[in-house]
Amino acid sequence: MKAVQFKEYGGPEVLRVVEIVEPRAGPSQVRIKVRSAGVNPSDWKRRAGLYRDFEEVSFPSGVGVEAAGVVDEVGPGVSDVSVGDAVFGYGINTVAQYAVLTHWAHKPDGLSFEVAGGLPVISETALRSLDDVGVKPGGTLLVSGAAGGIGSAVIQFASRQGITVIGTASAQKHDYLRGLGAVPTTYGPGMAGRVRELATEGIDAALDLAGSGIIPELIGIVGDSSRVVSVADFTAPQYGARFSAGPPKNPEKILADVARLCCEGLFHLHVERIFPLERTAEAQEVSAEGHVTGKLVISVA
Ligand SMILES: NC(=O)c1ccc[n+]([C@@H]2O[C@H](COP(=O)([O-])OP(=O)(O)OC[C@H]3O[C@@H](n4cnc5c(N)ncnc54)[C@H](OP(=O)(O)O)[C@@H]3O)[C@@H](O)[C@H]2O)c1
Repeated sequence: MKAVQFKEYGGPEVLRVVEIVEPRAGPSQVRIKVRSAGVNPSDWKRRAGLYRDFEEVSFPSGVGVEAAGVVDEVGPGVSDVSVGDAVFGYGINTVAQYAVLTHWAHKPDGLSFEVAGGLPVISETALRSLDDVGVKPGGTLLVSGAAGGIGSAVIQFASRQGITVIGTASAQKHDYLRGLGAVPTTYGPGMAGRVRELATEGIDAALDLAGSGIIPELIGIVGDSSRVVSVADFTAPQYGARFSAGPPKNPEKILADVARLCCEGLFHLHVERIFPLERTAEAQEVSAEGHVTGKLVISVA
């Protein structure tokens, strides 16, 4: 099968499309014929070696942690799916023609493979980080980096919980944020003043999804470091703020719930661009530029 791999840390040029043997589904796993795989910032960060201090990569390494496709092998102990079922979920080296999934849910017919392949990471991270900031219904949450994959999901989940979201993005994305249910403002100089003008009742908590080095500023806006959470800035704890990380709790339920919400029209994932597997390096470059709206997806033939 075709798969995308890298043999050393480096830029997008280290990625290669190679021919390798299909993986086998182990206990509590399924193998899928991949139809789509989401592109996440962690893909290029791992490839660039940014995680090398805390995560071992054995070379050659595959790429991708989420996918949607059709089950073609069921591992021992799996009873909720059969060969031929369409599923989506978390997996191992998913940017390939076949991949093993470790957690999954059925993909309803009303949900496209492209969207389903991009849902797992953003849904779980959004729900977990929202839980971590602990804003109650009626409260106001500031989200830095609101137009990306996780931000788009946070806005929608928070709005459903009755939380007002003030989201930062560049000006051309403000209509996008409004469409998801957020009150937009720009990041950069003067952000604190703009946020205070919008949030006359105050900000209850802040969520940093951009990792742009503004934890102290967010603490200043909220007034309490314990109500600032980041998923992208490892320095957050140095300031008394929290860093939110996986592993996912109850991933199957999250996947099933978000699939249902999508089909009911209550959750929308904007897929900005779809790349063929052969152009995974370009997809990672676009992700690394840091201005994706919604999600990038790899389509696998
Ligand atoms: N800890 C965890 O569990 C976990 C899990 C998954 C992901 N992550 C991390 O979370 C981060 C976000 O992931 P993602 O998938 O949402 O990324 P993404 O989709 O690539 O996010 C891109 C967005 O960031 C915005 N942005 C860029 N610079 C900004 C700035 N200075 N201030 C505010 N917004 C800015 C961009 O908006 P503009 O174009 O308007 O600038 C763009 O819409 C990544 O660093 C990722 O590695 C952490």
